[in-house]
Amino acid sequence: MFATRECVQESQVMDLFKVFAAVSAMLFMAFVDCAIVNADQTKVEDFDSIQLYTLRNSSGMTVKVTNYGAIITSIMVPDRDGKFADVVLGYHHVEDYMNAVDKPYFGAIVGRYGNRIAFGKFSIDGQDYKLAVNNNENHLHGGVIGFDKVVWKTALIQGDDWTGLELTYLAKDKEEGYPGNLDISVKYILTNKNELKVEYLATTDKATPVNLTQHSYFNLKGEGEGTILDHELMLSAKRYTPVNSSLIPTGEMPVVKGTPFDFTAAKSIGRDIQVENEQLAFGLGYDHNFIIDRIGEGDGMVLAARVYEPTSGRVMEVHTQEPGIQFYCGNFLDGRLKGKSGKPYVNRGGFCLETQHYPDSPNQSNFPSCILKPGAEYRTATSYSFSTSK
Ligand code: BGC
Repeated sequence: MFATRECVQESQVMDLFKVFAAVSAMLFMAFVDCAIVNADQTKVEDFDSIQLYTLRNSSGMTVKVTNYGAIITSIMVPDRDGKFADVVLGYHHVEDYMNAVDKPYFGAIVGRYGNRIAFGKFSIDGQDYKLAVNNNENHLHGGVIGFDKVVWKTALIQGDDWTGLELTYLAKDKEEGYPGNLDISVKYILTNKNELKVEYLATTDKATPVNLTQHSYFNLKGEGEGTILDHELMLSAKRYTPVNSSLIPTGEMPVVKGTPFDFTAAKSIGRDIQVENEQLAFGLGYDHNFIIDRIGEGDGMVLAARVYEPTSGRVMEVHTQEPGIQFYCGNFLDGRLKGKSGKPYVNRGGFCLETQHYPDSPNQSNFPSCILKPGAEYRTATSYSFSTSK
């Protein structure tokens, strides 16, 4: 017998045009208020509907997802006493996602290439490509209008012991400079065991780099509840990819042993973060790709990270098929952004664990290839499992 499960399409929040048409025409768009926007229809070029869905499992865990940027806006999980808190950073209004200062990419699916590509340039089969550049001289997270800023199509999906939402998007040939029409599906699957699985699938009609990832910022105490420096992190990674001053990998893959980057045994995120170290100085803290330990060449699901927050007892484990994981600890948050509950998101008020191919892979032949060819499938999955410990 299976416990009750539901997938509620919570609110048809508003109608509005596709983001890049005219962000400025959007007035009041609260996700939770079910408000219908009184947009100036004469300016509308391409109408779309932005919605917020709530996935709810049999133990009361909820995950909210909007079809704007495939963004996870909330994850409610219990602490060791059964008290629920929202453990991801985000906003109350969709317009805040659209206009965010310094673009933190809260909760979004980033792509077509998550992370950086040096100078926005690469070549495939002798053909040079030039991407939109949006992070100093580099390309970051898919460019000016990446997948975090487009409206996705949705379909509710359901299994015996899970509920979910599938989001699809067709990225056009030359969008942000990338070659090929890329057909993408992302499935968010919430199981009754408090596991959120993200399944990615993409196909293309021209060879193209693809590197999709989930950009949630976690704070297992609850969003807005101060820094994450006391969270204890374990990364299954004996090596990492150091960067230059613009956060592009140098191509080296040294061992973490004996450096502040050694999380092979759990330690608090804050323990070594102030150590004098050139890599920490470049990232203003941790903002680095770790190479996930794998036995053999397989790409099955492995445990990549485990995080424990001592006051609440909450634990999150990340399993993935990807070769790398970017550990970013919110170094660019500075307290100016106010979150869902009105509390400022302080420096290091959230951490990301972005499962991925290594940054700048299209230009680094010694890294695992991220090139998807016509006729092949980009198929990968990552899961975030929540539990508690004493
Ligand atoms: C990157 C950071 C960047 C942040 C927000 C992370 O994935 O590693 O360098 O500042 O995203 O854009």
